[in-house]
Amino acid sequence: MTSDALRGLRSEFPVLDGGLCFLDWGASGLIPEASREAVKTFVDKLAECPSALSVWPWGEHGDGPSGTRTAARGRIAAALNAKADDVAIVESTTQGLQMAAEAIRTTEGENIVLFDLDYLAVALPWTMSARARKLELRFAPHREGALHVDDVLARIDEKTKVVALSTICWTTGAVIDLEAIGAECAARGILLVVDAVQTFGVVPLDPARISASFVACGGHKWLCSPLGAGFLYVSPRAAARARPGRFGFLSGRPSTHKDWPSWFRAGDCGADETPVFPTGGMSFETGGHPSWAGAIGLDRSLTLLGRTAPGEILAHVRMLGTRLIEGLDRLGLATWTPRDPALRAGTIVVRAPHGREQELAWCDELRKQRIAATARYAKGVGGVRVCFHGMNLAADVDRLLEALARLVRGG
Ligand SMILES: Cc1ncc(COP(=O)(O)O)c(C=O)c1O
Repeated sequence: MTSDALRGLRSEFPVLDGGLCFLDWGASGLIPEASREAVKTFVDKLAECPSALSVWPWGEHGDGPSGTRTAARGRIAAALNAKADDVAIVESTTQGLQMAAEAIRTTEGENIVLFDLDYLAVALPWTMSARARKLELRFAPHREGALHVDDVLARIDEKTKVVALSTICWTTGAVIDLEAIGAECAARGILLVVDAVQTFGVVPLDPARISASFVACGGHKWLCSPLGAGFLYVSPRAAARARPGRFGFLSGRPSTHKDWPSWFRAGDCGADETPVFPTGGMSFETGGHPSWAGAIGLDRSLTLLGRTAPGEILAHVRMLGTRLIEGLDRLGLATWTPRDPALRAGTIVVRAPHGREQELAWCDELRKQRIAATARYAKGVGGVRVCFHGMNLAADVDRLLEALARLVRGG
C-alpha cells in the first residue's frame, strides 16, 4: 500500500511514470519537479539580472533570515534533531569528511579505526595524512562482506582518536550498528565521524543518539538535489574543540565593519583583515560564493521528503526490499544484503551466479530496458546495486524481477 504522502512524492518525479524504472538513488538521484522549477527560475535570473543588482542571490538565497541557505540549514537541522548552528552546508560528502579530518587535532601515535569495505572518501583524509601526522590506521576487516561490531571495538584502545564509518556498507547495503559503536566512542572520548550519504533521506538519523561528532552527507543521491551541495553536522561538543582547517571570508564577518558590503565600500580595508568566524557547525562552511542551485535543491527536496511521516519512507523501502528478496529466492539468486529488514535501508545488492562480469553485463541489459541500477564493488564484495526510495512502487520491483528472470533464463 502506498500512502497519499508517498504518492504525492512520486508525482514530483513524472519521469517515473514515463517508462523509466529508476533504482539508482545510491549513485545519483533524480531531481523533483519543484527543484527543477526553482533552479530554472534561479538560473533565468542569473542570465537576466532583473533587479540590475548582480549580488541579488545573497538576499534571496543567502544566510539572512529569509534566505534559502538559512531555510535549508534549518530543515537539515530539524531532520537531525539538532540546531541550525550545528549544520554547515558544504559541497559534498567528501568535502565534509575532509573538513572533519582537518579540524580534528591529533598527536603522534594516535590511531584511527576504519572499515576495509568502506567508501574511499571515508578513509582517504586519514590515509593521505597518516604519515605526516604520525597516525596509525586500523582497518576492521569485513567477514563475508559484513562488518562485525566486535571487530571495530577490538581495534579501539586508549590511543584511538577517531572511528570513521558509513551508516551502511555501500557494496552490500547492510546497516552498520553505529549506536553500539557510538556508545563505546562516547564512553572513551573518541570522535565518531559518520558518512550518511547512502541513507539520509530514507533512514532517520539522530547524531546525538549515535554519539556522532561529525556527520557528512552529499545532497545528490537520496536527497535528490542538484550536485554540489550537502551538509556537515558538527556536534556542539566537537565544535567547541575542533577548529576548521580552512577559512573563507564569506563564512565570517569583518572585524572592522558591520558586514561585507560595508567593508567593500569603506575604502580603508585590506588583506590584513582578520574576520570574525562563528563558532559551531557554520564555521565549517568554506566561505566563497556557494552553490546556490545546490542549496535551492536541498531546500526543496527536504521540504518534499519532510511531508512524509517519520520512518514512512524507511518502512516502504524495506517492504520493497522484502518483495525483491522473495522474488530473487524464486529465481535462485542471492544477495549480499541481510534478509532481516532491520539490517537494511533502501539498498539491496544482487549477486549473479557467475559473478562480477555477469553482473556488469546484466546492468547493461537492464539499462537497455530503461531500468537504472549500477554494479558496485570493493574487495570482491558487491553486485547489482538496487536502490529503492519512497518514490518507487511494488511495480518497479516486479518489473526488475521479470527482467532478471529473462536474464537468468538467457544464461
Ligand atoms: C558511502 C559513500 N560516501 C561518499 C560518496 C561520495 O559522495 P560525494 O560525492 O557527496 O562526496 C559515495 C558515492 O559517491 C558513497 O557511496
